[in-house]
Amino acid sequence: MSNQAKHIDILKKLQEKYDAQSEDTENYLEGLLYGKSLTYWDYIHTDALLSLQTQRTTYPDEMVFIAYHQINELIFKMILWEISQIADKKELSRDFFESKLMRISRYFDMLTTSFNIMREGMDPKQYGKFRHTLTPASGFQSAQFRLIEFSSTELINLIDARFRETIDRNTPFEHALEHLYWQAAGKDYKSGQKSSLLTNFEKRYKEEFITFMKTYNTKNLWLRFKDLPQKDQESKTLIKAMRHYDYTVNITWVMAHYKAATHYILGKEGNGEATGGSDWQKYMHPKYQKRIFFPELWTKEEKDNWGHQ
Ligand code: HEM
Repeated sequence: MSNQAKHIDILKKLQEKYDAQSEDTENYLEGLLYGKSLTYWDYIHTDALLSLQTQRTTYPDEMVFIAYHQINELIFKMILWEISQIADKKELSRDFFESKLMRISRYFDMLTTSFNIMREGMDPKQYGKFRHTLTPASGFQSAQFRLIEFSSTELINLIDARFRETIDRNTPFEHALEHLYWQAAGKDYKSGQKSSLLTNFEKRYKEEFITFMKTYNTKNLWLRFKDLPQKDQESKTLIKAMRHYDYTVNITWVMAHYKAATHYILGKEGNGEATGGSDWQKYMHPKYQKRIFFPELWTKEEKDNWGHQ
């Protein structure tokens, strides 16, 4: 039932709000009289969302492939959303940091455990056919995945291990980008030549990446962790959460991904070649990439054995 006293109170607050903006409250109230009531499908944009799965072939399992990649991109967006809240928080507390980090980890856990949709969820025969229409594209070109990396750790941890000694905080960002670990997927360091996978990716995103790298050079997850009081940085539960996130992104997810690639590319129907054309068996394995977001939270032995578990 309506409550008259409450109405008057709300009207008063509305009046104050619109007066402060020099706006006419009556016009807004009248708008309520004629406005359509909201529906689930308008709010969620269900029709638009469900019209985005466009197959390039008639193989039914291509739909699984497209939809699952899109789901990943949406979850990546949610992860970046949580990271930006930690990055931009003025007075960061341990509780806030930890609860957001747990959300991020939960999303990555979900991506890892659901990866069997990719490994078991498609018919290798069909995959072996529709994949040819995707060349030279690859999930490698997911820009959001790269943004998650840039915003999680210090840039030096994303540099190809062979060049880490030659790069520091004074190195221009463009030069650092040329030596990121993922260049190894398509760059011949002797000739400087790059594959279409890389040139297309950089043509589209290089400028955005450099701006983003600069921004997160001062507020990535590691630096925000270091902004916490010493006592909080030593918290066992927080350290456990940081290590869990690091391990899930850089070992568990990577291995689930690697196993899917092995299943389809090296299985009976595969020809060994990835759509992006990388030397993927070497490139993708965590023991070669040695990508670790928070190296200070791991022992020397753990780092030496990274990806060998
Ligand atoms: C059957 C499923 C999949 C296969 C066979 C596969 C295969 C590959 C291969 C071979 C690469 C190395 C680059 C290349 O030469 O193409 C790669 C990279 C990558 N893929 Fe996938 N992928 C699959 C699913 C996914 C999904 C669902 C995502 C989520 C968006 C994804 C995201 C990525 C990312 C981010 C990279 C770059 C990883 C890095 O630089 O270490 N992939 N994938």
